[in-house]
Amino acid sequence: MREAYIVQAVRTPGCRRNKGAFAQTRPEELLSQALQGVCERAGVDKGEVDDILVGCAFPEAEQGLNVGRVVAQMAKFPDKTCGATFNRFCCSGLEAISLQSLRIMSGWADVCIGAGLESMSIVPMGGNMPRPHPDWAKENPDVYVSMGITAEHVARRYGVTREMQDEFAYHSHMKAANAQKNKLFTEIIPTTATKFVEKNGQMVKTTFVQDYDDGVRADTTIEGLGKLKGAFASANPWVPNQGSVTAGNSSQTTDGSAASLIMSGDAVKRLGLTPIARVVCYAVAGCKSDEMGVGPKYAIPKALEIAGLKIQDVVNNGLFEINEAFASQALYCANELGIGDKSLWLSDSDSRVININGGAIALGHPLGCTGAKLCATLVNNMKKLNKKYGVESMCIGGGMGAAAVFELC
Ligand SMILES: CC(C)(COP(=O)(O)OP(=O)(O)OC[C@H]1O[C@@H](n2cnc3c(N)ncnc32)[C@H](O)[C@@H]1OP(=O)(O)O)[C@@H](O)C(=O)NCCC(=O)NCCS
Repeated sequence: MREAYIVQAVRTPGCRRNKGAFAQTRPEELLSQALQGVCERAGVDKGEVDDILVGCAFPEAEQGLNVGRVVAQMAKFPDKTCGATFNRFCCSGLEAISLQSLRIMSGWADVCIGAGLESMSIVPMGGNMPRPHPDWAKENPDVYVSMGITAEHVARRYGVTREMQDEFAYHSHMKAANAQKNKLFTEIIPTTATKFVEKNGQMVKTTFVQDYDDGVRADTTIEGLGKLKGAFASANPWVPNQGSVTAGNSSQTTDGSAASLIMSGDAVKRLGLTPIARVVCYAVAGCKSDEMGVGPKYAIPKALEIAGLKIQDVVNNGLFEINEAFASQALYCANELGIGDKSLWLSDSDSRVININGGAIALGHPLGCTGAKLCATLVNNMKKLNKKYGVESMCIGGGMGAAAVFELC
C-alpha cells in the first residue's frame, strides 16, 4: 500500500445557526470557498485534483443534488475533477477524508479532496421532511431518538453530573476565547458571507467577510452555566425538567465547511510540496443507539490498535480532537479511555492535549462538516506544536463512533 498525506487543511469559521454570520449564506458558497481555499493555501492548481468527496449529514435541498459535484463546478474546478457526497452523520467529513486517503493508498488516485459541509440554518437537523419507517420506529424508537436525550442517558447511566458537564463546557469556551485572542485558529480561511438588507422597500443582497467563529462566549462563567435549564425532555418522563444537558453544555448548532487536500507520495514529490501529516488509519465502531455518545470509547482503541499505538503514546507526544457533541459524552469517553485527568483538558493546564483550543461546545458542531473541521484544526496544531500523533474522534447518531490517527510528517 502507498501512503496518503494531508498537504493542506482549512475550514471556514463556524457560525451559529440562525443567529450567526452564515445564516443567510447558501451552503454551496461555504463549500466552494473551502475547496478553493485549500488549493490556494497549498499552492496547488485545481486541475491537479482528481476527485472531491464531501461529507454532509443532511444532504438535501440547498445542500442536496450531489453537492460535491455541483460545487466542484461552482468553485471552477475543471470538468475532469469529479465530485460526490457522503453521509455518516457527524463523522461524514472525516469519512470523506479517509475514503479519499484509501483511494490514494490503493493507487486509484493521486490527488483528492476530502471535505465537509453543513448549513444547519438552511437545512435543519433531521432534514426538511423526516420520514422514519412507521412500523420499525414503533418497535425501535431508540434508532430515531433525539441526540440530546442520548446525552441525558449517558449522564444518568454513567454518573456524569451537571457540575462536571458545566465545568467541561466552561473550559471549552475559555480555551476557544484564548485561542481567538491569540490568533491561533490559523486553519480558518476568511469567508465571504451573504446578508439581505432592506433598501428602499426591497431586500438587497450584500456581502461581508467573516473570519472568526461567532459562538465563542468569553464571558462564560460556571455560575451562568449553572442557571440554564435542561434543554431536552427528561430521560425519566416522570421527572419533568430535571435534565442536566443544557444549551451551555451541548455542542452548538452551526454552519460551516472544511476541506483537506490529500496526495500520494509521488504527487507530493512531483509538485514539490511538504505535507503536514500522514493519514495512518481510520476506524468506526458501533454501540447502542440510545447512548450513541459513548462511540469514541470504542472507536479510539480500535484505531489505535490498527496504528500499533497506545493511548499514552498520544498523551506523551500528540493531540486529541474529540468532538464535544455533549459534555456528558465527551467527558465520559475521556474518563473511560484513561485520559480524563483534568490536566489533559483544563484551559489553564500547560499539559492539556484534548481539544486544546476548545471544542464544539464553544466552536460549534456543523454535523457533516465536523470531521473535516476537526482534521483541519488537529493537523495544523500538530504542525505548530511539533506533536507526532493526532487522534480525531466523534460519536455518531444511530449509535457509532469514529476515530482517525494522523502522524506528523
Ligand atoms: C441545546 C440546543 C437545543 C440549544 O439550542 P439554542 O437554544 O438555539 O442554543 P443557543 O446557543 O442559542 O443558546 C440559547 C441560550 O442559552 C444561553 N447560553 C448558551 N450558552 C451559554 C453560555 N456558555 N453561558 C451562558 N449562557 C449560555 C443563552 O442565554 C443563549 O441565548 P442567547 O444566544 O440569546 O444569548 C442546541 O444547541 C442543540 O440542539 N445542540 C445539540 C445539537 C446536536 O444534537 N448535535 C448532534 C450531536 S450528535
